[in-house]
Amino acid sequence: MALSEKTTLPPPQHIAIIMDGNGRWAKKRGLPRTAGHAAGAEAFRRIANYCRTLGVRYLTVYAFSTENWKRSQEEISGIMRLLRRYLEEALQDMEKNRVCFRFFGDLSKLSPELQKLCYDAQNRSRDYDVQVNFCLNYGGRNEIVQASRAFAADVAAGKYQPEDLTEELLSSYLYSKGVPDPELIIRPSGEMRTSNFLLWQSAYSEYVFMNVLWPDFSPSHLDEAIAEYHRRNRRFGGT
Ligand code: FPP
Repeated sequence: MALSEKTTLPPPQHIAIIMDGNGRWAKKRGLPRTAGHAAGAEAFRRIANYCRTLGVRYLTVYAFSTENWKRSQEEISGIMRLLRRYLEEALQDMEKNRVCFRFFGDLSKLSPELQKLCYDAQNRSRDYDVQVNFCLNYGGRNEIVQASRAFAADVAAGKYQPEDLTEELLSSYLYSKGVPDPELIIRPSGEMRTSNFLLWQSAYSEYVFMNVLWPDFSPSHLDEAIAEYHRRNRRFGGT
């Protein structure tokens, strides 16, 4: 597929991205892993702005997984610092940038300062052009477990019967409640795994795996992924 492949078709309304390859990008340059994450945060800024230009309504990014706590304290603190800095800026420029925020994941394990920024950003969010969903301390299996627990609690409280459970009802207990499923999920860096990302929501998503490290990801890579998405023939199990 050629770079800068632009299409005149409308973009997917929801794109999700596994921002992978920051560590390898840094290693190639003899830099600490945190420098890779800082470059990854810049790539995120570029792509979020470009999504607004394209008219993409939802952008969901995997910023920190339930498994990422296994990394060194230095690396974890580096990622959290970048998120804090980004959210502080975003809170100031929210109306100007017309980007609003939701957070998918168990925020209770984050520092009180970061939790406050997340809740402030979420509470001040309006119906802006783009909604960024940050997956933070997020795992797809964990999301389904917490949704199942919440439904079970409602059954125990007499609100529902077990047989009331439908796909729609279960969806309403997920972090992504009210957000349409992503049509396109992009994983850069050459890895071809889902890594516990949006397990429920990705049932009919088109995956595009790309051989570029996330810090090098540019608007033309997004054009390329969208062009590939349009070439796919989405049948949703039909013929
Ligand atoms: C995966 O690459 C990336 C992460 C676990 C962290 C992603 C975080 C950011 C891009 C910064 C967050 C801040 C903002 C503002 C979005 P990896 O480290 O696993 O890369 P590797 O596979 O090459 O080691």
